[in-house]
Amino acid sequence: MAIHMGGRILWEWIIVAFRLVEKLLDTKLFKLLNIFVNRFSCNNTIPGPKEIPLLGHLHLFSPLGPYKMEKLQDAFFDLHRQFGPIVRLKLGVEMVVVFNPEDAKTVLHSDGRYPFRPPMKALLNYRKSNPQLYNRMGLFSDNGEDWLYMRKLTDSLVKANVAESYLQHQSEVADHFMDYVESHLNGENIMEDVLMHLYKYTQEAFGVVCFGGRLGCISESTLGSKVNSAVCMSLESIAKTMLGIPWWKFNIHTSSYKNLCQAQECLRSVTEKYLENASSINESERGVYLNFLLNNKELDRRDLTLLSLELFHAGIDATASIIAFCLYYISKDPKVQNKVLNEIDDVIGDGDITTESLMKVKYLRACLNETYRMNPTAAGTARILSKPMTLSNYTVNKGTFVLCCHPAMCRDEKYVDDPNVFCPERYLPDSPISKPPPFVSLPFSNGARMCPGKRFAQQEIILFLIKFFMKFGCSYEGEEVGSIMRLNMMPDKPINLKIIHR
Ligand code: HEM
Repeated sequence: MAIHMGGRILWEWIIVAFRLVEKLLDTKLFKLLNIFVNRFSCNNTIPGPKEIPLLGHLHLFSPLGPYKMEKLQDAFFDLHRQFGPIVRLKLGVEMVVVFNPEDAKTVLHSDGRYPFRPPMKALLNYRKSNPQLYNRMGLFSDNGEDWLYMRKLTDSLVKANVAESYLQHQSEVADHFMDYVESHLNGENIMEDVLMHLYKYTQEAFGVVCFGGRLGCISESTLGSKVNSAVCMSLESIAKTMLGIPWWKFNIHTSSYKNLCQAQECLRSVTEKYLENASSINESERGVYLNFLLNNKELDRRDLTLLSLELFHAGIDATASIIAFCLYYISKDPKVQNKVLNEIDDVIGDGDITTESLMKVKYLRACLNETYRMNPTAAGTARILSKPMTLSNYTVNKGTFVLCCHPAMCRDEKYVDDPNVFCPERYLPDSPISKPPPFVSLPFSNGARMCPGKRFAQQEIILFLIKFFMKFGCSYEGEEVGSIMRLNMMPDKPINLKIIHR
């Protein structure tokens, strides 16, 4: 035991000495040695399930294992229960999962100028092998200087006056969708699988921003359904190629990799087509954001297409899932629904929706915040550490993939009273029920890499909910709905809503 301890202390000193020399000599050889030292120095001591050589922990997600990849969140909850606030996991990639807000704060506050998100390597591989179509790797998948270049092009999206300038257009899209609801009810006034319908709203509402006009997704357009299935296929295949054995590295193209390529190509060509149409729209009608992009003469056409593709892609899925979950929770609780309806009658009545009125519906906004807490769309915030740091008393090395698991924190009694109860009151000012502490619920993440679409997403969602509840009430009688993972978290079963005309 003493020898073992002595050996360990010596090893730790070797690491300290190595780091000092490394500071002085930033050579390739040292980088290689560093990988070796990292491999054997720290992460092994972080608790985690038993590994199998080569497979790591993938066996836990095999048909014989206790977990399912699409229910990754349940696996995280269980691992947290078994191993505590920090867990080591190897699912194709090695990662450290943290379950407390202090660690999340430490990770996100040390982000620096270039927060490094684990890249979607299969997607990078596909884009790199098609340089005639892709000049850069994109906002989602890239890191470093190229990421910052693309990110700066989204700066204006986070400005209040830019989002405001689209309110009228997006309001018309929401009105159109309410008519669509009327004509898509079955004989019992049920709208089946609302999420599938909501994609049409989110495509159309953000299409106005990306492509400067109406795309026709709410009408029965074949292009709309094509985009819809391509987005679903793309998200699912990116998730499948991220976790698990990277067969594509050996030039073995699994169905997931093939689907990824096919979906990306479909989205890219549709985006090109939409952008072509946009060029013929009068500049005064195109909207400020698209004008800003199209007037940037230095912007490579391939970068313009990729940015528009990624923004459009990002805007559809998470926004629709959140609206679906929010309708689900409000439809299940008549007391909550009454408060929502009364507030909308009081604040909006039959009047127009303005930026001010979007802010005034405080109870509805609390329902939305509670929906983000109950069913966040991101499985967590993922970063590759840019420097070593102490997390839950363990030293975690530079270069480690850390996932801050907010969905688990959001359902942890340590941070939230009655965490499994939908209680919007938590988010009301002066409420006796306290809201979760900072860094527990972070639906749009935090820092330089946080979601640039937050302002638009909030506007589209609140606008939708107001328009919906001005016209309808709803109820739900099916089984309880949870989340499954498809890159984003989404409802795990169809939500069939009974619609009641007001
Ligand atoms: C309810 C809706 C949405 C939610 C919950 C959401 C959430 C998130 C989260 C958690 C991230 C990861 C941030 C990080 O790693 O720190 C992200 C990134 C991103 N989101 Fe959203 N998002 C939503 C809607 C949108 C919309 C409408 C857009 C369209 C502009 C958008 C565009 C993006 C982009 C481009 C990124 C990558 C940013 C980067 O890596 O720099 N999102 N979003």
